[in-house]
Amino acid sequence: MTGNKIQLDKNGNLKHFLTTEGLSKSLIHSIFEHAESFANVGERSVKKVPLLRGKTIANLFFEPSTRTRITFELAAKRLSADILNLNISTSATSKGESLSDTLHNLEAMHCDMFVVRHSNSGAAHYIATQVAPHISIINAGDGRHAHPTQAILDMFTIRRHKKSFENLRVAIVGDILNSRVARSEIHALSTLGVLEIRIIAPQTLIPKDVEKLGVQVFHNMDEGLSGVDVIMMLRLQNERMRGALLPSKHEYFQRYGLTKKRLEKAKPDVIVMHPGPINRGVEIASDVADGEHSVILQQVSHGIAVRMAVMAMIMGRRPKDSNEDS
Ligand code: CP
Repeated sequence: MTGNKIQLDKNGNLKHFLTTEGLSKSLIHSIFEHAESFANVGERSVKKVPLLRGKTIANLFFEPSTRTRITFELAAKRLSADILNLNISTSATSKGESLSDTLHNLEAMHCDMFVVRHSNSGAAHYIATQVAPHISIINAGDGRHAHPTQAILDMFTIRRHKKSFENLRVAIVGDILNSRVARSEIHALSTLGVLEIRIIAPQTLIPKDVEKLGVQVFHNMDEGLSGVDVIMMLRLQNERMRGALLPSKHEYFQRYGLTKKRLEKAKPDVIVMHPGPINRGVEIASDVADGEHSVILQQVSHGIAVRMAVMAMIMGRRPKDSNEDS
């Protein structure tokens, strides 16, 4: 289930956005260039460009979300699209309507794009195979599998702070086993050619055969953080854990929590990232989350520009088209 075969059209352009696995370096850089053009739209007095005027996008979140759902909504609005937010708890899904029937009803309303979050790995890929050919799917997180826009906005954030990807040592810390973000980050970082990807976690939170993805495994924070340029912290995803994988949150923080003391092991200009939601005092100390190395809130802002870029590219629109339209 890479999804890459169906996410590109016959000309190599984005049709859906399902995974970072197999995405080319040039396509990732093209998303960066588009996102750079959109990055200042939110600072204008009129926070809009007319690129997706007349298009209808539906946010279908079958799992909770704050950042992803709202930044997709803002991104769609800033592109002048009409956006629908399906509230699953008050929709017919809660009355037993199947996913396929819900989708076919939205198709009948002439939607152009579905942004999908689902607890089942592969849900977005499955939906992309089921919908009418004119509808595009963006994966906003599926089970443990992938969260591609999160990975690209994280790469965009790194790019804004570091000169190039080639010399970077990146540490991803925490619940790798249950993390769709980690998987998508590892694929994107590999494609962008970073020097080293380290994962730091207890053995119980590391997927089998993870070394095949080209990462180095550490169980000790001080060793794993030594000399790194970027630290990506992950939340303990209790909702996806099967069985008791950890002793206690307190003990986890003692061994794997990011504290100011541990940060000293990294490079002096290290950046600290976290996709959110953060759990202060569990995976990250408050003074690090709010500290000078943290770029966590920048990640959220960049999420809007990157999601605008992905939506515009899927619809075959370039930022300069907005000048021609207005
Ligand atoms: N990073 C992320 O996916 O956050 P939400 O669950 O709030 O969307």
